[in-house]
Amino acid sequence: MALDDFRDELAATAVALAAPGTGLLAADESTGTIGKRFDAIGLDNSEANRRAYRTLLATTPGLAEHISGVILFEETLFQDSDPVVAAVAAADAAPEPSSGDPQPIVALFQQKGIVPGIKVDLGVEDLAGGLAGESWCTGLKGMAERAARYYARGARFAKWRAVLRISSGGCPSELAVRENAWGLARYARTCQEHGLVPIVEPEILMDGDHDIATTASVQEWVLRTVYGALAVNGVFLEGSLLKPSMTTAGADCATRPSADEVGEFTVRTLSRTVPAAVPAILFLSGGLSEEDASLCLNAINEAAAVGYAPWHLGFSFGRALQHSCLKHWGGRDVAAGQAALLARARANGAASRGAYVAGSEPSDDESLFVSNYSY
Ligand code: 13P
Repeated sequence: MALDDFRDELAATAVALAAPGTGLLAADESTGTIGKRFDAIGLDNSEANRRAYRTLLATTPGLAEHISGVILFEETLFQDSDPVVAAVAAADAAPEPSSGDPQPIVALFQQKGIVPGIKVDLGVEDLAGGLAGESWCTGLKGMAERAARYYARGARFAKWRAVLRISSGGCPSELAVRENAWGLARYARTCQEHGLVPIVEPEILMDGDHDIATTASVQEWVLRTVYGALAVNGVFLEGSLLKPSMTTAGADCATRPSADEVGEFTVRTLSRTVPAAVPAILFLSGGLSEEDASLCLNAINEAAAVGYAPWHLGFSFGRALQHSCLKHWGGRDVAAGQAALLARARANGAASRGAYVAGSEPSDDESLFVSNYSY
């Protein structure tokens, strides 16, 4: 099989993921990262707890109204559900709870009409020759075989997170920008050869004290380089998605931009760099609080309504969708966790139409910023 065999399917998958009023649930935390989340709620990072939590996500009633796709970690793609957790949702939805047999978690998402995706990068490593703290993203070797296996199991899209930082010491270096853009392009092309829509994620960390204008100019450079590399590699843009950070100031910048400024700078940056053939731009939350992430996404859609924006502008949030869900669940209360998840999914669904009313959905107002964040 080759890219040409998958063109129609790739475009159809990308369009399904770009459905109006929806976005993605990024639930592909590596085992180490989910362990940090569980630590915060006093839970062991055991396979049983990871299974229970991800079953909770997959059985949340009404989730598909706001969530078009879910990004899974490899363990979850091949894992069966926790029948006890699944029974809670079943009891909620119908008077006759379904049988308690475990089912593939991926099938639970598919039954809801939520498209499963998979994280295919294998994490970042120090970039030899780069500046301090710079990284490159690993996972190309063997990716073709893995992509074929993931497709056979039901995955239809993939994610690769490349990470760049801004610093007064000269980051990002040209080497970091070029290496990360090229890695994204090699990954995207390889995925498309195997029927997976690539999410192209050049994350610019919020670490630093730079202002929003600095972020905007660095992000323009990064995105221009990424789309240049995608072109050289013959990536089929209609069957791809972009997952950028919102254009905002560094976490330590003394001047905090308003949501409206984030909206205007983000749309300006994207309109200067992202081809119109890309069906959707699905933002990461990057350490913004749950409510701030929704407000900024809403402002981006408001700015898009008056500027140039041919793409669906939605979300692919991890922390900003799951934070209060994890807290309310706490390893015990499935219904409370699901209600919290649904509330933020609803908020972000509305924000991706530019229709979110501030504070209209419950959230946990904590900052979710983590310095030098790894996934
Ligand atoms: P956050 O929304 O928590 O930044 O993460 C999304 C993600 O998938 C990062 O790769």
